[in-house]
Amino acid sequence: MKNTFYVTTPIYYVNDVPHIGHAYTTIAADVIARYYRILGYDVFFLTGTDEHGQKIEKTAKSQGISPKELADKVVVNFQTLWKKLNISNNDFIRTTEKRHYHTVSHLFKIIQEKGDIYLGEYEDWYCIPCETFLTDNQLIDGKCPECKRPVDRLKEESYFFKMSKYTEPLLKHIEDNPDFIYPLSRRNEIVSFVKQGLRDLSISRTSTRWGIPVPGNDNHVIYVWFDALTNYITAIGYPDNSEKFEKYWPAVHFIGKDILKFHAVYWPCFLLSAGIPLPKRVVAHGWWTVEGQKMSKSLGNAIDPFSLADKYGVDAFRYFLLREVPFGLDGDFSDSAMTKRINSDLANDLGNLTKRSTSMVEKFLNGQYQSASSAGIDEKVLSVFLDCQKRYDDSMKETSFSRALESLWDFIGFLNKYIVETEPWALNKNKKTEELKKVMSNLMEGLRLIAIYTYPFMPEKANLIFSSIGFKEDIESYVRKNFDSLVFGKISGEFTITQTPDLFPRIEKEQSEIKKEEPVTEKELISIEDFARVEILIGKVKSAERVPKSDKLIKLTVFDGNKDRTIVAGIGKYYEPESLTGKEITFIANLKPAKLMGITSEGMVLAVSDEDGLSLLTPEKSVKAGSRVR
Ligand code: MSP
Repeated sequence: MKNTFYVTTPIYYVNDVPHIGHAYTTIAADVIARYYRILGYDVFFLTGTDEHGQKIEKTAKSQGISPKELADKVVVNFQTLWKKLNISNNDFIRTTEKRHYHTVSHLFKIIQEKGDIYLGEYEDWYCIPCETFLTDNQLIDGKCPECKRPVDRLKEESYFFKMSKYTEPLLKHIEDNPDFIYPLSRRNEIVSFVKQGLRDLSISRTSTRWGIPVPGNDNHVIYVWFDALTNYITAIGYPDNSEKFEKYWPAVHFIGKDILKFHAVYWPCFLLSAGIPLPKRVVAHGWWTVEGQKMSKSLGNAIDPFSLADKYGVDAFRYFLLREVPFGLDGDFSDSAMTKRINSDLANDLGNLTKRSTSMVEKFLNGQYQSASSAGIDEKVLSVFLDCQKRYDDSMKETSFSRALESLWDFIGFLNKYIVETEPWALNKNKKTEELKKVMSNLMEGLRLIAIYTYPFMPEKANLIFSSIGFKEDIESYVRKNFDSLVFGKISGEFTITQTPDLFPRIEKEQSEIKKEEPVTEKELISIEDFARVEILIGKVKSAERVPKSDKLIKLTVFDGNKDRTIVAGIGKYYEPESLTGKEITFIANLKPAKLMGITSEGMVLAVSDEDGLSLLTPEKSVKAGSRVR
């Protein structure tokens, strides 16, 4: 079996600035490239720009520059964006490069030699002001969809590709290879389209000069889609570098659903004609809207991937795009959805797990821990991990990114519960050192694997977790040298925590949404009787634990002098539960009980906060539980 993996993105038109749709395809391809790299594959990941054709020519004209000048200007936006988003492409192809002219002319010639290209006449509707050919389907009320003016019937000499000849071979290929088009719904669409019978395709234009000339006839330039699709084989050396080509081809093409026909029909037919194996798979994703609206330039910055990455962080942005919507379906981007994901999945689940577990190793074990293989593998942790790992791998192989992340988050959730159940702080207090060490080593082993499997999605944060738990190399080089490291409990050694990172700060409500505090006016002064109605007591904390799914709330069991009561306090960002046991706290005892995250709270803890954080109010010297504050 070949140990190589070749993944491509579409090449992007240079008549527009990059938007979230471009970022989406490219991030998805990057995730899969990184995933196969950690599995040990020799990965080739290609992206680039589509720089020919009438569209580019027209935009350049409107800006008073040449098409090449336009391309040189806009290509930089894409290249800078991919750097910013941590895209690990191995090559960046531009269709105006010499190597590409060479491959496109060669492919055209061999298809021509095969007898699959003939000169004919292209006839369609033409909008003169827009200089565009239009099909029946594109017309709106018989007029140009762009400028709404009447159109003419026009004929142009054109080279045609005998696509009709490949109707049956293509259908057979799709039937024989159920994985060829993903997802299934799209595959069915393509099958019914092909079944209607393919029409020969016009593959040259005389209406534009901006393109690659047809070999032997300079009056024609090659149709921009024939030119663009060929980029996928140019970049891996076709036809001259057969060693490289055979090493990587066939590819997995990641694209949006709008360009599926070009990739799952035209491209395979060209390849069938040229005798080149067809792509391994064409994966078509859905379409993004923004705050419920179709994207348009007038929406401005909200859709600009640069500013989204600045606002939310690169990794959170990458995570959101692949977690929020099942790959293949349409999705909607909104600030509120993004904030929710960051606060719950990232800050709360992953962030808390990392911070709590690393800080416990620091506090209880001096920052040192042994591999789980030495401290003893906890079978329960192992079995939950194995189940999640299998579901993760299966989903990644199917490019079901959101499901892969769900599986990983199941394991993160399990480890958060594991902390609550094993109570490492109690093991520490009761000097059950061996047990404590075992729990912490299993936690660290879990966290190590979480870092590795998070890596394709959030490379920076994953590497930060990895280095925090004592690994000196970055994840990719470490795993590639040491494939055992993907197995729970297989590595050995002693490790030192280097930091307890705050991975994802929570996003609080916008400042404008926070109610301003009004100055106290005389009318609002209260009498001593009013104050006497408030019963403020000192209580002793008997136990404390985090409220699941909240990084703010801690559930306290407080002895009030008579009985234990449950008090839920919003102090989780400032206190670890284990540090609270035994503390004397001040609380309001006669507040009406309130339900917080399903837990009834019988009182309110008093605390004070300033810009340095939050501090609980405690009596200056120890007092009896139940003493009243006056
Ligand atoms: N140049 C062609 C592709 C040639 S590939 C041989 C092209 N370029 S494009 O710049 O218009 O778009 C490229 C990709 O961006 C497509 O895969 C498309 O699906 C994606 N998106 C553009 N807008 C999008 C959304 N609103 N949502 C998701 N992806 C979208 O087509």
